[in-house]
Parts: sequence; structure tokens; C-alpha cells
Amino acid sequence: MERLVIRGGRRLAGTVRTSGAKNAVLKLMAASILANEPCLIRNVPRKISDVEVMIGVLRGLGVKVDWEDPTSLRLDPRGELGFHAPDELVREMRASIQVIGPLLGRVGHARVYQPGGCVIGQRPIDLHLKGFAAQGAEVREEHGYIEVIGEKLQGAEIHLDFPSVGATENIMAAAILAEGTTIIRNAAKEPEIIEEQNFYNRLGARIRGAGTDTIRIDGVESLNHREIDYSVIPDRIEVGTFMIAAALTGGDVTVQDVIPEHVEAISAKLREIGAEVTRGEDSLRVLGRGRPKAVDVTVLPYPGFPTDLQSPMAALLSVADGTSIITDHVFEARFRYVDELLRMGANIRVEGRSAIVKGVPRLSGAEVVAPDLRGGAALVLAGLVAEGETTIYGTKHIDRGYEEIERKFQGIGAEIERVID
Ligand code: UD1
Repeated sequence: MERLVIRGGRRLAGTVRTSGAKNAVLKLMAASILANEPCLIRNVPRKISDVEVMIGVLRGLGVKVDWEDPTSLRLDPRGELGFHAPDELVREMRASIQVIGPLLGRVGHARVYQPGGCVIGQRPIDLHLKGFAAQGAEVREEHGYIEVIGEKLQGAEIHLDFPSVGATENIMAAAILAEGTTIIRNAAKEPEIIEEQNFYNRLGARIRGAGTDTIRIDGVESLNHREIDYSVIPDRIEVGTFMIAAALTGGDVTVQDVIPEHVEAISAKLREIGAEVTRGEDSLRVLGRGRPKAVDVTVLPYPGFPTDLQSPMAALLSVADGTSIITDHVFEARFRYVDELLRMGANIRVEGRSAIVKGVPRLSGAEVVAPDLRGGAALVLAGLVAEGETTIYGTKHIDRGYEEIERKFQGIGAEIERVID
């Protein structure tokens, strides 16, 4: 059984480098479906298993995918593409549904199995489907499949009920080759959306407004570009994870390859708990100072505090001085990790969308199971500060989003190893 074994109590110190952003890379890979020449994507986190899954999905659709060097992926979508994404891979990773928008533009048809991924609340895809329907596509849900058909989509004005990241991306992709203009209101403003706009515009799309709540896509007849060479932004969630770990262990860690603006919400919270955060041009230094102070955290879409760091922050607050309330307004049930933290001696009560965290002086090592990707990261952080040994099972969840997490933490002084037997 594969597991991570951590001996807690080490103060983290040194420099750690960030990998490319998983949540951007997966979408740029899907975006290559719309390209008419090969695309080279650099700074790809190769060892993240979700990247492997997306490679499988794209190959299954007929895109040629090869590693050009250890972190550069060459995607060649020339030739005939299919419309049916491989079921077993779609079941494994929810982000597979991001191929629907590009497939609509390219082949006018997409079929995907109802998606899987982390179990963190209901996670419907109604906003994606409403958007496609507004653009004139026929949407069917039958026998566990979602089928979207639309040879030539029409521009539309779409107001999202919630600024869903995935729906914004999928609707944006479908609109690129549609007839006329599409306007997405209450769009998600995450940096990854800006990244996709930039990528698509390099392919010849006409998109404006990403990063604001209104995105305008002027449909073009066809895309016209040469081979693309694109380097993806750093992973702000990985950055935030290291920042929180530094503050939690009273450490002194410099996170390198960072866009500091992308993690403002985390820097602000860490300063509130008493840590020192200093900003470099493309780095951040976090100095932990004594026991963290309790703070309330409200999770919101970007630029609010990110839901993906809600559980790592809970690990930190579980040893804070005082009581903190964490409220997640993005996912309604992202607290499955709490039971595991309780095994380690935390005092947390979940009430609806909130977790009430009463700080305890110390956690103690235990055997725990990662319930999902970010919940798993929270357990790693808790293990780093707990007394004694923590064993974390369910490492496959963590590997979906963190590249060699043990190697990176070892590099800044953690006693953590992966055991496979
Ligand atoms: C993406 C990220 C994920 C992050 C999340 C929110 C990727 C691969 N994943 O997920 O790491 O936690 O953004 O920042 O980029 N919703 C609906 N109907 C829909 C779509 C979403 O009700 O059609 C709801 C969801 O259930 C959830 C909320 O909207 O409560 C936010 O989801 P969304 O922004 O779509 O997240 P993802 O794109 O799935």
C-alpha cells in the first residue's frame, strides 16, 4: 500500500520551486483541439497524474501528444478527430469535460461520460450545458452520457448564475468559432481564464475581458496561426500550500517562480495569523512567527481566498491560538478531511458550509486517509507539524495535483518519505 510517512516537528527552511499550474495546463491541452498547427506547451507539471489523464483523453480523441523535453508537451491536433472522450478517463477526472467546448468548435459534436473527480459536493455541470444550449447546441443527457451537438453555434449573451471556472472556460471555447459575438457575464475571474484567453488569442481567436466578470468573444470564421510555443503560469495553489506550510511550522521558506498577485488573498491571511510575508519579483518569502493567531476565512471565487486552499488553511488553524471559522462559498461540502484531522487531535466542528476550528496546542501523528486532492494536502501539512509519525494513505489523490510532493518538502527540511510495498 503506497503511503506518505512524515515525522513531524521539523521547521521548514530553504527555497522551493513551483511547477506549472495544473488548472491552466489541463485547459490549454484541451484547447489544442481547436488549433490547426501543433502547439508546444512549456512548464507542464509532468508528474501530476491529471496531466497523464488529459494526455490519454486527447490521444483517445486523435490528438498526437509527445513530450518534447521533461516539461514541454507537443500537441498535434491535425488530422481527423473523434468526438467521444474515453469513458474510463473521464470518470477519473472531472476536468475531462473541458474538451466539450473545443470539440464543439472543431467537430460540432462531443460525447462524454458523466464526469468523476474529487468528491467535494454536488458539482453539477448545468451551467456548462445551459451555455451550450444558449449558443444553439442540442444537449442530451442519457445513459450516463452527456451529448452536445451543434455544427455551427451562434453567439449569445450568457449570464452565469455562479462564476463557475469550468463553465466560463467551456462556453468561451465553444464561442470562438461561433457565428457572431458571445458575451459571458458573471464570468469567473481566475488567472487561469486569462491564461486561456491569451492562448486562444495566439491561435487567432478574438477574446477580450478575461480576468473581469464580462468576457466578450467575437466569433471568427477559422483560426489561423503558426506553431505555438507557450509557457504556462506557475501553480498558485501549490505556492499557497508551501506558504501555509512555512507559516505553520514557524519556518523560513522562499517560494520561487511565483506571480505574487495571484496569491494576494493567502499572503493577507498569513499576515493576519502573524507570519511575515515578503514579496520578491517572482518569489515570496514566508517567515512563521510563533503560534498562529486564529482568523476567520471566507472562501470565495477569485480574487477571494481560494477553495483549493481551504483545507490546508484548516490544518494551520487547527493549531492556532483561539477559534477560527472557515466558510466555503464555492463548494458546499468540502470538509471530508475534517474527520482525518480529528484523528490527529484537531478540534473542528462542521456546520453547513462552515468549519469551526478550535485551535489545540498540538496535533499528534496518526494513520489517516486522504479523502481528496486538497484534503490530502491538508493532511500532509498537519503531519509536518504533528508530534510523532503520521502515515497518509490515498496518495493517488495528492498525486493528482502535486508534483513529487515529498521531494519538494524534503528539499526544505521536512522528514517525509513515500513508502511503496
Ligand atoms: C475548478 C478547479 C478546482 C477549483 C474550482 C473553484 C480545475 C480543473 N479545477 O473546478 O480546482 O476548486 O475551479 O475554484 O480547474 N457549479 C454548478 N454548475 C456548473 C458548474 C459549477 O453548480 O455547471 C458549481 C459547483 O458545484 C461549485 C461551484 O459552482 O459549487 C464552483 O465550481 P467551478 O468553478 O465550476 O469549479 P470547476 O471548474 O469544477
